[in-house]
Amino acid sequence: MDDEANLTYDPCKRVQDEAHVKNMDAYRKMHQLSLDDPEKFWSDIAKQFYFKSPTTGKFLEYNFNVNNGPIFIKWMEGAITNMCYNCLDRHVAEGRGDVIAFHWEGNDPLDCTKISYKQLLDEVCKFSNVLKSLGIQKGDRVAIYLPMVLELVVSMLACARLGIVHSIVFAGFSSESLASRILDAKAEVLITADGCYRGNKLVTLKSIADDAIRKCSQKEHRLKACITVKHVTAKGFSDDVTARPAIRPVEDFKYDWNPEVDKWYNELMNDVSTVCEPVWLDSEDNLFMLYTSGSTGTPKGVLHHVAGYMLYAATTHKYTFDYHPGEVYFCTADIGWITGHTYITYGPLLNGATSVMFEGTPMFPDCSRLWAIVDKYQVSKFYTAPTAIRALMKYGEEPVKRFKRTSLKVLGTVGEPINPEAWLWYHKVIGNSQCSIVDTFWQTETGGHVLTPLPGCTPMKPGAATFPFFGIEPALLTEDGKEVEGPGKGYLVFKRPWPGIMRTVYGDHARFEKTYFSKFPGYYVTGDGCTRDKDGYYWITGRIDDMVNVSGHLLSTAEVESALIKHPSVSEAAVVAKPHEVKGSCLYCFVTLKEKVEFTDEVATQLKQRVREDIGPIGTPDYVQYAPGLPKTRSGKIMRRVLRAVAQGQRDLIGDISTMADESVVGVLFQNRPAQKE
Ligand code: WTA
Repeated sequence: MDDEANLTYDPCKRVQDEAHVKNMDAYRKMHQLSLDDPEKFWSDIAKQFYFKSPTTGKFLEYNFNVNNGPIFIKWMEGAITNMCYNCLDRHVAEGRGDVIAFHWEGNDPLDCTKISYKQLLDEVCKFSNVLKSLGIQKGDRVAIYLPMVLELVVSMLACARLGIVHSIVFAGFSSESLASRILDAKAEVLITADGCYRGNKLVTLKSIADDAIRKCSQKEHRLKACITVKHVTAKGFSDDVTARPAIRPVEDFKYDWNPEVDKWYNELMNDVSTVCEPVWLDSEDNLFMLYTSGSTGTPKGVLHHVAGYMLYAATTHKYTFDYHPGEVYFCTADIGWITGHTYITYGPLLNGATSVMFEGTPMFPDCSRLWAIVDKYQVSKFYTAPTAIRALMKYGEEPVKRFKRTSLKVLGTVGEPINPEAWLWYHKVIGNSQCSIVDTFWQTETGGHVLTPLPGCTPMKPGAATFPFFGIEPALLTEDGKEVEGPGKGYLVFKRPWPGIMRTVYGDHARFEKTYFSKFPGYYVTGDGCTRDKDGYYWITGRIDDMVNVSGHLLSTAEVESALIKHPSVSEAAVVAKPHEVKGSCLYCFVTLKEKVEFTDEVATQLKQRVREDIGPIGTPDYVQYAPGLPKTRSGKIMRRVLRAVAQGQRDLIGDISTMADESVVGVLFQNRPAQKE
């Protein structure tokens, strides 16, 4: 494997022949132009989109240096447009109304439907009219807590049509997380569903939403409306649905139905007009916000604006997947994360693409589900996460080989560094060694891919995110802020803005400046470590702050610690990442208990449960270890390096402990390690 992992793989010939960018010279020229003359580069791209009127100020204006005043980024200020118009109306007006926008594939393989651009536009206009009739307007916030149903896309596009800021909360988050996000955004409306299935498991979303609504009203925040989609209790989106094996009688569900606030989506949509003029917006008006973990423990609402995000979502989707109209594209992410925002909804729709939207999981009804879908819809561009690949690898090649997968051309990964072994399996087994792989590095904050191969030209190295996308100027910095030249490693930063970069943290611009711009003035700081090799390839090495990447989901150790400390028996907690075969990393928690409280299995289980309730199932810790004392420096700072060594059971990782207040703690911690799962 070592030899194979060190090889360089040529882009797939079938992709190269028809690619938008066919060789590295062409890539380098375009990249150089995007840096030398961003206005020319991006204004040429903007011509494909509908702008009601052009930029009135400068095409690009920004300040990236905290020492020169407030950080700001403005692209195409004064130009007037609408995201939803560009995703839908434009295609319909240009004769593409009958193209399928989404093949929807439910959790149950018999549950499927499809929707064309024209049909989607009609639904979006109807729902826009519904929102208008509730008195929701430009600038208001709407929280969306939905499973992967078409109504989710309809809701977000209706918001975009009216200049309403959507805040989508992943439907795996707890009521606590949902409530805190509704409160932070001061959302006026919540859109949810009765429930959904994940595999065989029924999740009763409305009752979680009810809990969140109760928590909000305890804080004096009352919603104007809670709109519930009937998904598992009745026919869902359209009459095309031929079979809904998952339907449950409504009596199975318990709701807090408050007629003043609660409305059924399906009832609101009766007899509503399919005509709704978009609200024309400034390029720099708000489009949406999406919460991401923050190292201080409270999630931050990453805010994206209209035009820059639009240009960047469309352009990255087109070039990174080398998308051509007529092809079927399938991204397995959930729209609750940025990957779904940019690469299920906005990017593909802007490009008039036909996508598969998948409600279920790769393991249901069995672990060949994704490949069944690939064959069923003849998917040619496929995008998933390393954690899914690693989970599927465990079952070997047989479930994959049950299906042909000959339609596949480009395979993407996102969310965390992909280990070469998983990369090679993806390439050889899933892709039959006939596909290009794009390891796309980006963040909620970047809006779209920032480091990525292009599938028609970039020679691939397993595990490398390779080169910068158009408009991106990366650098590696040492701890004291010096740029590393040539091969080396350091903090990954970007030297100038690209159109898709976030504009602020919702309601907290100071936090935006502090988090991303204060450590190295003049640079956007990603928080990731990175290596550049002798060929100029970039390799992401992982987070270098207090963030843990569990199955591609970033969690902050501070957030987990504060959940643990809420337990009445806990006096102190510290959380670190431990490498995990499938999840990439898992959470390993150390807890010190109050006097006279005994650490038992029951306490450990309660603590895991507590974190799960506070954050959601993705936050469930794998390990909780009793720590009579935590390793601290003499100034009282927790030495996480030591805790990571304990978590991994490797004394050689401890390093220098000369600044430690009480060295005897280390031996005790090694003795107290709970049974390890590996
Ligand atoms: C990590 C997800 C290595 C990284 C789009 C980043 C990656 C964080 C990759 C952002 C990749 C994402 N290789 N690491 N290809 N893609 N990451 O905001 O640590 O959920 O900072 O956005 O995921 O996570 P977020």
